[in-house]
Amino acid sequence: MKKGIIILFSCLLIDISYAQPSTLAPKPLMGWMSWNFFAEKVNEQELKEMATAMIRTGMVEAGYNYIFIDDGWQGGRDMKNNIIANPIKFPSGIKALASFMHERGLKLGIYSDAAQLTCAGFTASLHFEEQDAKTFAEWGIDYLKYDYCNAPADSNTAKIRYQKMAEALKKTGRPIVLGICEWGERKPWHWAAAVGGQIWRTTHDIRDKWVKKPDEKWGLGILDILETNATLSNFAGPGRWNDADMLVVGLYGKKGPSGDGGGIGCSDLEYQSQFSLWSIMCSPLYASNDIRTMNKASQSILLNKEVIAINQDPLGIQAERKMNDSIWSVFVKPLVNGEYAIAILNKSNQSVPFSLNLKEMGLDEQFQIRDLWEHQLVKQSDLNQFLILSHQTKLYRLTRKNKNK
Ligand code: GLA
Repeated sequence: MKKGIIILFSCLLIDISYAQPSTLAPKPLMGWMSWNFFAEKVNEQELKEMATAMIRTGMVEAGYNYIFIDDGWQGGRDMKNNIIANPIKFPSGIKALASFMHERGLKLGIYSDAAQLTCAGFTASLHFEEQDAKTFAEWGIDYLKYDYCNAPADSNTAKIRYQKMAEALKKTGRPIVLGICEWGERKPWHWAAAVGGQIWRTTHDIRDKWVKKPDEKWGLGILDILETNATLSNFAGPGRWNDADMLVVGLYGKKGPSGDGGGIGCSDLEYQSQFSLWSIMCSPLYASNDIRTMNKASQSILLNKEVIAINQDPLGIQAERKMNDSIWSVFVKPLVNGEYAIAILNKSNQSVPFSLNLKEMGLDEQFQIRDLWEHQLVKQSDLNQFLILSHQTKLYRLTRKNKNK
């Protein structure tokens, strides 16, 4: 009998330890990230304004609950080597800012780097992992984006450095999500979860453009990132997400990080495509435009709750790309209750007719089909032949007609 109790107890222990990683980031994170809009000019006052705008515009109600401070907040170290915020940009300090967010039901993310200096040249955390993690926890930080500029190129060092920070964060006892940002260079989808990360960037930084032109040496657009991220569906799941980088929705070619490298801006239809594709791929949804002044088009994209529900579906399955040729990319994502989402992207530069054959997508049943941008049901027969605009992504939710079947 006693032995039985011991076995039961140790099973419970095993269960708890397995359950732990997925309790951090069980769904793709949603929020607003400072880099594309402010670059290193990030400051306390404007972050508060963004948070207030996130509440006022209904974004919080729609699920966006993080404000992520990116690079540029740091002010060096004090006499005891504690990392400090720049006192001019953050006169009240990060702890007060975290309280401001928490009082409003929001969370606060911060940024550092696994070297001595960050990408923009500010103080970073190498050799101070435990001390910085403790500081972040004391401040009430909920997420750390941990970058990899100025660090050695080999995978082994990257794994060691990320694991060190993951363990330091864990030791604080505060649940702090770790976002690994080494731009996919060392294929982090193979190792990032094992070293303690919940999210990993899969590519270099996004620019505010549709696609990199052949004569451009650098600067990835929406389509370039899609090409990498779309192939990684097997690696994602609750607590382990492929991060396709920030949404560029509503930036319209603004000067600054996302406007460099050919970032001339996108059309609203292209922004809508990014939102559909990032959602169906379970990428975190980090808006990065000025949400204080955003126009109606950006609002209706970022606030499309039917699309957000695809991203946040509790099963957490990243869509598989079922079809990919020079014109079309078609994605299928299983949802809870036997439902599905389908995204159809026209990559070409003209409108092209498409015929949706559900059988070819592995869906051999009768479905009720809802267009998540038109917000209405469509007949299956209407999808036998229909026009999809250049760079448009049609997004549908499929519900079985006969659920008991
Ligand atoms: C890197 C990251 C970006 C951003 C900048 C900040 O380029 O990939 O997302 O954090 O650093 O310097």
